Amino acid sequence: MNKKFVKRLVIISNRLPFVLERSSSGWKIHHGSGGLVTALAPVLRNRGGLWIGWPGTHEIADIDSAVDQAARTEGYSMIPVQLSKDEIRNYYEGFSNEVVWPLFHDLQSYCNFDPSYWELYKAINKRFANITAKNTTAEDYIWVHDYHLMTVAQELRYLGIKSKIGFYLHIPFPPLDIFLKLPWRSEILRALLDYDLIGFQTLRDRRNFIQCARALIKNVRTSGKGQVLTLSIGKRELRVGYFPISIDYEEFNIAARSKDVADEAWYIHEDLPHIQIILGIDRLDYTKGILQRIKAFRNTLERYPELCRKMTLVQVVVPSRRNIPMYNDLKIEIDRLVSEVNGTFTMSGWVPIHYIYRALSRRELLAYYRTAEIALITPLKDGMNLVAKEFCAANIEEDGVLILSEFAGAVAQLQRGAIIVNPHDIEEVSAAIYQAYSMSKEEKRDRMRKMRQIVKRQNIFWWVNSYLDAGIAGNLDNFPPMEEHISFHR
Ligand code: F6P
Repeated sequence: MNKKFVKRLVIISNRLPFVLERSSSGWKIHHGSGGLVTALAPVLRNRGGLWIGWPGTHEIADIDSAVDQAARTEGYSMIPVQLSKDEIRNYYEGFSNEVVWPLFHDLQSYCNFDPSYWELYKAINKRFANITAKNTTAEDYIWVHDYHLMTVAQELRYLGIKSKIGFYLHIPFPPLDIFLKLPWRSEILRALLDYDLIGFQTLRDRRNFIQCARALIKNVRTSGKGQVLTLSIGKRELRVGYFPISIDYEEFNIAARSKDVADEAWYIHEDLPHIQIILGIDRLDYTKGILQRIKAFRNTLERYPELCRKMTLVQVVVPSRRNIPMYNDLKIEIDRLVSEVNGTFTMSGWVPIHYIYRALSRRELLAYYRTAEIALITPLKDGMNLVAKEFCAANIEEDGVLILSEFAGAVAQLQRGAIIVNPHDIEEVSAAIYQAYSMSKEEKRDRMRKMRQIVKRQNIFWWVNSYLDAGIAGNLDNFPPMEEHISFHR
C-alpha cells in the first residue's frame, strides 16, 4: 500500500463494489471480485475510506440496510446513489452506453445522440456530486472512475469543493476526428479539465486527449515528460498520465495451482482428448470482436483443413447490457454464426465451436485458463482487456500462446510475448492461429515468461500506488516514460 498516502480515500464510481440480488428472504449481496475492488479495498479499510455509487437496481425497499450490511462486511463505508428506472434508461443505458461507450470505442455509427440523454447525464452527475459534497471534507482525496461520471468534478467545483479530485478513464479515449462528432464535445472536455489528475490506460489515449484539448480549448500547453505530464490553461494546472490497470497476479497464480482447478481442468481436457483448445472469453459487447473472431476461426478451418478434429474454439460470452437493442442484436447474430459454423464443419466426435453463454464460476474460469493452449483475444478496441493478463497469470505451465489484438490497451505491455493481430483482418488472425498451433514448446515458454513477468511486476497494487502517487506527490520525478510504442511492422 502507498505509504505516502495519508488522506482518506473516497471512491466514486457508477456501481458500488457489489451486486444485489432479490431473494425471497430479502437482498442477497454478492461482493465484487474485480481487480479494482481487490486493489482499493485494503486502502479503503486501512484509511477508513468511503465508496459512493449506484447499487445496481432501481428497487429501493430495504436498500439502505443492504448497503450498510455490505459496508460492515467490507470494513469501509458505502453510500448508495439511487436511480429510478427512467434515470437508468437515460443516464446509464442512454448517454453512457449509447453515446460515450460506442464513440470512445471508435464506433460513431453506433451512437444515438439523443439530446435528452445529455440532460439526464448532467443531472445524475450532479446528484453524485451533491452526495459526495455532503459526505467529504477538504482533507479527502476524491477519486472518480470512468465514463459515466465525467462531469462530477465540475459539479463539485460549482459547490465550492476544494479537495483534490482525480479521474480515471477505464475505456479508451478516441482520436480527435471521432471525438469531434460528439455534440457535447466542448462541455465534456471542459468538465474533465476540472479534475486535478486525469489517468488513462495507455499513452495512445493520453495523446488523443491532449490533441482534443488543444483543438477545442484555447491556450492549452503541456510540460514535462514521461508517464505524467502537466497540462496548463492560463493559470490552471492539472496532470495527465497513463496508468495501465492490472490484476492481482499472485492471486491468479496461486489459485490456478489449487486442486479444485486442476481437477476441473483435467475434466475439460478429458472431454476433448487430443484437441487443442482456443479460448475466447468476453462480456457480450460489439467492441469485443466476437463475430470477426468466429469468422477468423471459420477461415482457419477452410484454409488449414488438417486442423479439423485437432482444434476447438471455446467461446464464452458473459451476458451484459441486454436492455440495449445493439446488445440484443449482437447476441442473435452470434447464435446464428456459431450454428452456421458448427453446421458446416461438425464431424462425428468433434464440434468446432463450444459456445457458453453465461458467467463462469471462478473455478471454471481458472480451469479454462489453465487448459487452453491458445487464448484468442481480439477486441476491435478495448481500454485494457484484463482477460489477457489473467490468462498469463493463470498459465502456470508457461505453455499457452496469447493472440492479442493490436487495439487492446494490454498490447502495450504484452507485445513482446503475444502474437499481435489486426482483428479486422481475418486472414491474419487465422494465420496467427496456425502459427500458435505449430509453435515449439521453447518459443511458447519464452513468450509466456516475458508476459508473466510484466503482469507480475505491473500488477493492480502497482497501478493504485502509481495513480495515487501522481495524484498526491509534489513532484513528478518518479514517472519516467514506460515502454509503450507499439510496432505495426510485421
Ligand atoms: O470497461 C468498462 C466497464 O464499465 C467495466 O468497469 C465493467 O466491468 C464493464 O464495463 C461492464 O459494465 P456495466 O455492467 O456496469 O455496464
